[in-house]
Amino acid sequence: MTALITGASAGIGAAIAREFAAHGFDLVLTARRGDRLQALAHELAAAHGCTAHVIVADLSDPAAPARVFDEVARAGLTVDALVNNAGYGLPGGFLSSGWEEHRAFIQVMVTSVADLCRRFAPGMVARRRGFIINVGSVAGLLPGTAGHTLYGAAKALVIRFSESLALELARDGVHVTALCPGFTYSEFHDVNGMRSQVSGLPRWMWMDADTVARQAYDAVVRGDIVCVNGRMNRTIVALARYTPQWIVNRVVKRAGKKFRRI
Ligand SMILES: NC(=O)c1ccc[n+]([C@@H]2O[C@H](COP(=O)([O-])OP(=O)(O)OC[C@H]3O[C@@H](n4cnc5c(N)ncnc54)[C@H](OP(=O)(O)O)[C@@H]3O)[C@@H](O)[C@H]2O)c1
Repeated sequence: MTALITGASAGIGAAIAREFAAHGFDLVLTARRGDRLQALAHELAAAHGCTAHVIVADLSDPAAPARVFDEVARAGLTVDALVNNAGYGLPGGFLSSGWEEHRAFIQVMVTSVADLCRRFAPGMVARRRGFIINVGSVAGLLPGTAGHTLYGAAKALVIRFSESLALELARDGVHVTALCPGFTYSEFHDVNGMRSQVSGLPRWMWMDADTVARQAYDAVVRGDIVCVNGRMNRTIVALARYTPQWIVNRVVKRAGKKFRRI
């Protein structure tokens, strides 16, 4: 069996690659930083005896999903598990970035996710077996914040899309899971320049990427449609769901200033 993981060069994606390798999967690893992917491929081959195929691709390019799909086909590989994990945050208010930055963001966070599902799911359906993990976020289950304007919206779309896809493909033996991590130690907040701001958040709000990856694997194998990582994040999501909306909006508006920048 082979798992294709986007954003495998760091953080949660690299941890998910390690998790699938530990369960006997061969891998297709993709991201922009090929050196990181090669290093991970060697590590996993040595640790688990798996083969790992590296594809360097920038998912902000609308042509990238087709290229990844074609390269997988050319290599004669069959993808049994697809993990749409690549992502980043775009700090600031909506007007502080130009349209090209927003377009690229939507392409990576939303369009490439749906595009890769559309390309790889038919093979899984034909074989009547497959796993798809789309990485959302707790942010996709909470009201919007000021700053990082499209982030929560993009993740909400990924979660709703995954829910629908899960219902459509269940009878074909394909499990689809929307993974919803909260604050997770990775390079995410270094890349978007928010590290010093979020370092003030209490430790209990954070999880490590290996635990998130383990829960992701278990959830998709079990057939969970939405997996919110960790008891604390599940509590936050439940409180947001069952508390009157005006109170939730007020709390998120205040709390958002601690981890968002306008
Ligand atoms: N960390 C958190 O607190 C947290 C919380 C909730 C959800 N998430 C979600 O978890 C996922 C993984 O994030 P992470 O925390 O592991 O962050 P990370 O350590 O920064 O890793 C992000 C990965 O995405 C890849 N990536 C970014 N832009 C890309 C592009 N244009 N094309 C292809 N690959 C790209 C990066 O690879 P290259 O730079 O090599 O291309 C890297 O492998 C994201 O979808 C994120 O939104 C994270």
